[in-house]
Amino acid sequence: MTIHIGTYDDIQSLDRAMLGIETVLLIAGTDEENRVNQHQNVVNAAKKASIRRIAYTSRALRDPATLVNQLMKGHFQTEDYIKASELPYTLFENILYMDAIPQFVGGDAVFERGIHIPAGQGRVALALRSEMGEAIANALATTAEGNLTYHLTNRESYSFYDVAAVLTNLSGKPVTYTPAEPATFETQLIGRGLPDVVARRITGFITDIANGQEDIVSLDLENLLGRKPTNLKQGLTLLYTR
Ligand SMILES: NC(=O)c1ccc[n+]([C@@H]2O[C@H](COP(=O)([O-])OP(=O)(O)OC[C@H]3O[C@@H](n4cnc5c(N)ncnc54)[C@H](OP(=O)(O)O)[C@@H]3O)[C@@H](O)[C@H]2O)c1
Repeated sequence: MTIHIGTYDDIQSLDRAMLGIETVLLIAGTDEENRVNQHQNVVNAAKKASIRRIAYTSRALRDPATLVNQLMKGHFQTEDYIKASELPYTLFENILYMDAIPQFVGGDAVFERGIHIPAGQGRVALALRSEMGEAIANALATTAEGNLTYHLTNRESYSFYDVAAVLTNLSGKPVTYTPAEPATFETQLIGRGLPDVVARRITGFITDIANGQEDIVSLDLENLLGRKPTNLKQGLTLLYTR
C-alpha cells in the first residue's frame, strides 16, 4: 500500500496526492463551515489529474431545499460541483449512522430519563457506519460505467418510539420517547451550556428528522453488502454492549 498525503486546504498537496490515482473517494470534511471550498479543491485536483472516477460520501435527505439545518446543504453543493466537473462520479448518499443513536438519546442516562428530543413521529432508515464503509469499498472495487448514485440506508425506517422499544427490551427497564417542542429543546441545550449556534444546529438537525427528511428506504446498501444490513435491534444491541 502506498500512502499519498493531501490535505483539503493545500492545493499543491492534493496535486501530489492525485499522481497515479484512478479513483478518488472524497470523504466529506468535518469542518462543516468551510468544507464546500475544501471539497472543491479536491474535485479540481482530481480533474487536473484526469482521474477515472470520483466518489463522494454525501447524505441521504429527502428535500435539500427545505432543510432546517443549513449546513447539510453543503453536501448537495458538493454533489452539484462534482456533476459540473464532468468527471465520472459515484455518489453515496448516506443515512444517519445508527452509531450516533447513543449520542442522540443522551448516553446511558436514557435508561433513567427516557428520550426527549424534537424528532416528532419522524423515521430514519438508520444503518451502521461500518456497513456503509464496507458497501462503499465493494462498490468502488467493481468497475463501474457512467454516473451512479447510491442511497445507503437500511431496508426499513425507524421512529424514536422504535428506538425506545428496543432500549426497553435491551435493559428490561421501561424507556419512553416523549417528543419535545423544538424551541423548548433548544432553550434546554443553551441552559446546559451549549453555544446558541450549536444548540440551533442540533435542534435543526433533529427537526429535519421530524419533517421526514431521513425517511428514505432503499435496497442499495443490502445489494452492495450482499446481505441484509444490521437492523435496529441487532445494531443497538451491538452498540450498547460494547
Ligand atoms: N451519515 C451520518 O450519520 C454521518 C455522521 C457523522 C458524519 N458524517 C459525515 O461523514 C463525514 C466523515 O465523518 P467521520 O465521522 O467518518 O469523520 P472522521 O472519522 O474524522 O473521518 C474524516 C476523514 O476525512 C479526512 N479529512 C477530514 N478533513 C480533512 C482535510 N482537511 N484534509 C484531508 N483529509 C481530511 C480525515 O483524514 P485524517 O484521518 O487524516 O484526519 C478522515 O480520514 C463527515 O464530514 C460527515 O459529513 C455522516
